[in-house]
Amino acid sequence: MRLKNNPKAKEIIEASKYVTNDIVFENNNPVCLEIGTGKCDFIIGMSQKYPDINFIGVEKYASVLVSGTKKLKGLELNNLKLMVMDASNIDSVFHNDIDILYLNFSDPWPKKRHEKRRLTSDVFLKKYNSIFKGFKVIEQKTDNDMLFDYSLESYKRNHYFVLKKNRNYFDSIRTEYENKFISKGKNINYVKVVKL
Ligand SMILES: C[S@@+](CC[C@H](N)C(=O)[O-])C[C@H]1O[C@@H](n2cnc3c(N)ncnc32)[C@H](O)[C@@H]1O
Repeated sequence: MRLKNNPKAKEIIEASKYVTNDIVFENNNPVCLEIGTGKCDFIIGMSQKYPDINFIGVEKYASVLVSGTKKLKGLELNNLKLMVMDASNIDSVFHNDIDILYLNFSDPWPKKRHEKRRLTSDVFLKKYNSIFKGFKVIEQKTDNDMLFDYSLESYKRNHYFVLKKNRNYFDSIRTEYENKFISKGKNINYVKVVKL
């Protein structure tokens, strides 16, 4: 993700009603979380398509969220919240709140010494254990074959079962990176895993 140095990013995103630290929705609908939501194409598309599901997009950098908040201007989506947060803190914010976790085109961190930073490492999968309401469900899309194979092993080691897997996946709701890689002819890997 290219980061623009935008000194006003914090101010701009805080002016958006979608950016919040309050994770409570005023209904009992399912809650889905995307970590590394980037420019928000996926989370906005999902919240428009599924008004009876709540969506939260978490992004580490305020500067990246600026473009998402611009796309949301004039939209009335009561089922969407955006948060600036490092996923390392995910288990101190969410406790039995989440139904599905989406990991879309997460940074691959290819060097072995950075393995713990991958969002599907043992470190993160352990953190996710306490965020789910019931069954733990993760859906992941990535262009990166190394990260995909690594994640499949990591899910297995952490007692997740594969429900669906597709190495040539075409989603109707796409992320910025997904569109970029599809336009280059790269196959998209998808997996949905569950743990009881
Ligand atoms: C490669 S980009 C993909 C963005 C978007 N999901 C897409 O598919 O277009 C990865 C995103 O994850 C964010 N990210 C990386 N590590 C993160 C972390 N620990 N917590 C929250 N967001 C993170 C990055 O800032 C970046 O916006």
